[in-house]
Amino acid sequence: MTTAAPENRPRDGAARASFWEDAHSGKDVDSVSWWQSVPGLSLDLVDRTGVGRDEGVIDVGAGWSTLTDHLVQRGHTDVTAVDLSRTALDTVRARLGDAGRDVALEVADVLDLHMGRTYAVWHDRAVFHFLTEPDERDDYRASLDRHVRPGGWVVVATFGPDGPTTCSGLPIVRYTHEALAAEFPGYELVATTGDDHETPWGTIQQFTAVLLRCA
Ligand SMILES: C[S@@+](CC[C@H](N)C(=O)[O-])C[C@H]1O[C@@H](n2cnc3c(N)ncnc32)[C@H](O)[C@@H]1O
Repeated sequence: MTTAAPENRPRDGAARASFWEDAHSGKDVDSVSWWQSVPGLSLDLVDRTGVGRDEGVIDVGAGWSTLTDHLVQRGHTDVTAVDLSRTALDTVRARLGDAGRDVALEVADVLDLHMGRTYAVWHDRAVFHFLTEPDERDDYRASLDRHVRPGGWVVVATFGPDGPTTCSGLPIVRYTHEALAAEFPGYELVATTGDDHETPWGTIQQFTAVLLRCA
């Protein structure tokens, strides 16, 4: 695990919300490094879980990712996307149009998430790696534990050991598969994978991904 040097990073919920709203406000979807028109790695991992189309899937820190769109197109009927940025989720809502009438889009902090229900799949691409402080990772795990049903699945993708050391100007933690799986000791490691994400401006970012299962 490699940690970038701490800088002026948002440390509380209000600061995080303000930072991430600013990161999306007034921007084009493909102006952010993490943009993908087809989230292939994520779709593959959701497929690998084998969950039914009517089982709950939550994408935390979804931003304006197209994962929700693709899940809806594939027939998933219980999809939730959570993000700190209302602008990001409004973009998803507008893009989905009528197809998104049953999609839940919630402005909320994954470090203090209370959806009042559980899900069959928890998906996170490029959020956990922003948690450079142990207490933040504890808060994330508490949210995770509240929302994954017994036997449910967890997909977490972060920058890999050769990935960038920052994202959006914030320090991140780079993970090997082993280090990432070790962050979730109560979950069984089912699969490891990753990809080389090509940013909209053609640079490559190495991602590490794990598929875990709740006991
Ligand atoms: C690097 S982007 C990844 C977005 C999306 N998962 C994707 O792959 O396109 C990180 C996203 O996480 C959101 N985010 C960061 N910290 C968060 C938190 N504590 N709770 C909820 N969302 C958060 C940001 O607003 C942003 O949309």
